[in-house]
Amino acid sequence: MNPPIVSAAEDFAEVAADYLANAILRARVSNRPVTVALSGGSTPQPVYALLGRRTDLPWSAVHLFQVDERAVPPTDPQSNFGMIEKSLLAAVVGVGPTMWRMQAERNDLQKEAHRYSTLLPARLDLVVLGLGSDGHTASLFPGSDAVKERAHRVVPTRAPDPPHFRLTITRPVLERAGTLVTLVAGFEKSRAVRRALLETGPVEELPGRIAQAGVWVLDSGAAEGLAPHP
Ligand code: 6PG
Repeated sequence: MNPPIVSAAEDFAEVAADYLANAILRARVSNRPVTVALSGGSTPQPVYALLGRRTDLPWSAVHLFQVDERAVPPTDPQSNFGMIEKSLLAAVVGVGPTMWRMQAERNDLQKEAHRYSTLLPARLDLVVLGLGSDGHTASLFPGSDAVKERAHRVVPTRAPDPPHFRLTITRPVLERAGTLVTLVAGFEKSRAVRRALLETGPVEELPGRIAQAGVWVLDSGAAEGLAPHP
């Protein structure tokens, strides 16, 4: 396991944005496009706002995909796309990235999951993940069918909390990705962080373990459970 990057609460967003910017620069080899999938939720919002302001990044060569989306219109405050648009896309100056939106407001989520799976590249360069207090990552919830899915790259799923209906990329997509970066902030997530990074056990029980070997950017609260006990 790579050691997680532990940053102080005050500079969490800066450390995370710098890490993502460097990962994008590292992935930009031989002028080929850089493919990045972004999670939603509240934690990455300030990180995306800082990332979007990075004028040294080759934005016009970046293709942005979504890790997951809630079944709401893109204008809904709960839309992950809406958050990415307002925080990251709005901050980019000049020619921006190409955004591949999950259209989870569509009636037929199965059809949209299939359409989106055909848009995803064979291998994403970078995936930005979050972690819920229950240990979910992407919209792969503990014990769900979605976390067990191996055949499809995008599936409809149901979250325990509203908005219930969602689309999510699946474990095979995450396992093939070049770099997984999990962003976690807040003491309320510290137990889930500990279970994901230090405990062994089935991924189905704690989906955050999918990213166990990736890079974790934690604030001091989220890292609390990793401290050695006296
Ligand atoms: C979503 C996400 C989800 C998120 C975690 C953490 O749509 O909710 O993409 O997987 O990363 O739930 O969310 P917070 O950052 O809001 O705690």
